[in-house]
Amino acid sequence: MASEEAKTGKSMDAIMALCKRRGFIYQASEIYGGINGFWDYGPLGAQLKKNLRDAWWEDMIMRPCWGKNGPNGRPVRCVPLETRIIQHPKVWAASGHISGFNDPMVDDKETKQRFRADHLCGLYLREVASDGPPIGIQYQGFINDIREFRAGDPELTAVASTEGEALELLMPQLKKRFKGVDVSAHVEVEHDVQADIYIHDANQQRAWIAKLKMIPLALLKERIAYIKSPFSGKMGHLTDPRQFNLMFKTIVGATGTEDDTAYLRPETAQGVFVQFKNVVDTTRVKIPFGIGNTGTSFRNEVTPRNFTFRSREFEQAELEFFCHPDESFEWYKFWRDFRMDWWKSIGLAGDNLILREHEKDELSHYSVGTSDVEYRFPFTAPGFGELEGIAHRGCFDLTQHQQHSGAKMEYNDTERGEILPNGGRRGERYIPHCIEPAAGLDRGVLALICEAYSRDESRPSPEVMKFHPRIAPIKAAVFPLVAKEGMPEVADKLHAELSQRFWRQGAIEIDEKQSIGKRYARMDEAGCPYCFTIDGDTLTNQTVTVRDRDSGAQERIGIDKVAAFLTEKIGG
Ligand code: GAP
Repeated sequence: MASEEAKTGKSMDAIMALCKRRGFIYQASEIYGGINGFWDYGPLGAQLKKNLRDAWWEDMIMRPCWGKNGPNGRPVRCVPLETRIIQHPKVWAASGHISGFNDPMVDDKETKQRFRADHLCGLYLREVASDGPPIGIQYQGFINDIREFRAGDPELTAVASTEGEALELLMPQLKKRFKGVDVSAHVEVEHDVQADIYIHDANQQRAWIAKLKMIPLALLKERIAYIKSPFSGKMGHLTDPRQFNLMFKTIVGATGTEDDTAYLRPETAQGVFVQFKNVVDTTRVKIPFGIGNTGTSFRNEVTPRNFTFRSREFEQAELEFFCHPDESFEWYKFWRDFRMDWWKSIGLAGDNLILREHEKDELSHYSVGTSDVEYRFPFTAPGFGELEGIAHRGCFDLTQHQQHSGAKMEYNDTERGEILPNGGRRGERYIPHCIEPAAGLDRGVLALICEAYSRDESRPSPEVMKFHPRIAPIKAAVFPLVAKEGMPEVADKLHAELSQRFWRQGAIEIDEKQSIGKRYARMDEAGCPYCFTIDGDTLTNQTVTVRDRDSGAQERIGIDKVAAFLTEKIGG
């Protein structure tokens, strides 16, 4: 059993196989051997992703926050925008992406394999909590510093290319180290780059003993000779970390010289900032308000991995919410909480979803506060991977674009400012602050797929995709029990009626092939929440069977009540 399966009960291999077999996700250019970091969506996946995008659009732009008031006691206002993948190269100079959007990469000199240096895990060992059991660790340092701090204690080493691997390497060693104490070592992973390690004493008192953390780059450079390669396992086989810019370059125009270099956008956000003035000047929006957009972004990731989680082409759904600086922290908290509630509302509830506030040393150059909504993917378990970042970007971006372009980004707030002797008001001028909930739609789809994937061994075909009805790609299926005795005709009529009514939400399927059990199983794998079967009784008493995907339970309802039943369950 793969370790992720042991931790989550879900196997990534099984999930990926189902995605391929049922047409959720295919490898891009598969017939040519694929291209690393690029994925296509099959018919079910394309509809699933559209449903996710539509849910975002509806709940963030059309009826923001389900109609709730913001912290200012007024309804939240947002408008949409669509901006281009290719922007003027100066946009990326101003945003800091040309100089700073780099990942440090390291090569194994022998195998030539490459990985992200900041994905190496080290272990910080700190002092034991004073009320903890006497376990004798009284120093602080890197795992690779063990040599220096504890000569003759070589067994604690953990350098791995993923945090999960590092944990696996460490745990047996930690258990061995603390065998004098009656312990069951327990790891609490905060997110995908950090883990706290605790031990329990005989009285089940918990003591924090260590922090697993990514090795800072500066230290990595110093210690590279002492770090084992995650590929060859040998020390001294890694090159020095080098900075690698993640933006894809292209050439605009026919001359084809370096002077015409442009970049594929690494985020959709900058398109919004550079159009901020136009939106303010051409619409009636007033601070506070948001500008939302969805679209494809590109990052030449050093190590694309974990299915679609880290891709080189992916879609983002970002809202830039502009507000007065004095209200910005209120809005930051508001959006952080709403985004968590939103992911829960579409089916990512429970222990697999967390909201994590970044520590100061993790914040991006532009951010004065960031929280991530994180999901426990099978490949990050027991840790979590980022689904969405909610960043307080201050006035960084608008200020940068003002400086680089010369265009004034100040907002004239006529609802604030000095009251003049004549009773009028001189508006307050300021550069608004921006709160940015930035979601990844591909990661969202992957999380929804992982969450939905479940097995029910009592069913003839055990794989069931338990999607929330709102995002399920197929909303309902209609089956004639047998392809005769007038049943197909009744099924056709019901199918046409439901398709006409519900096409905006997703597909309504009709299927008369194979046994009814096999047809249910196909719909379970596709995540279709309701199947309606036309049988002999339908012809005599005008009722159909409704089968519920999750419980397998069946009930009979009038055929004329089917549309109302579906409306109640899936909306529309
Ligand atoms: N404008 C801010 C911004 O782009 P980010 O955290 O770099 O922030 C936002 O990206 C979201 O985009 C992430 O939370 C993630 O869901 C998604 N994302 C980022 N890089 C990705 C990648 N290589 N593959 C898939 N999704 C990615």
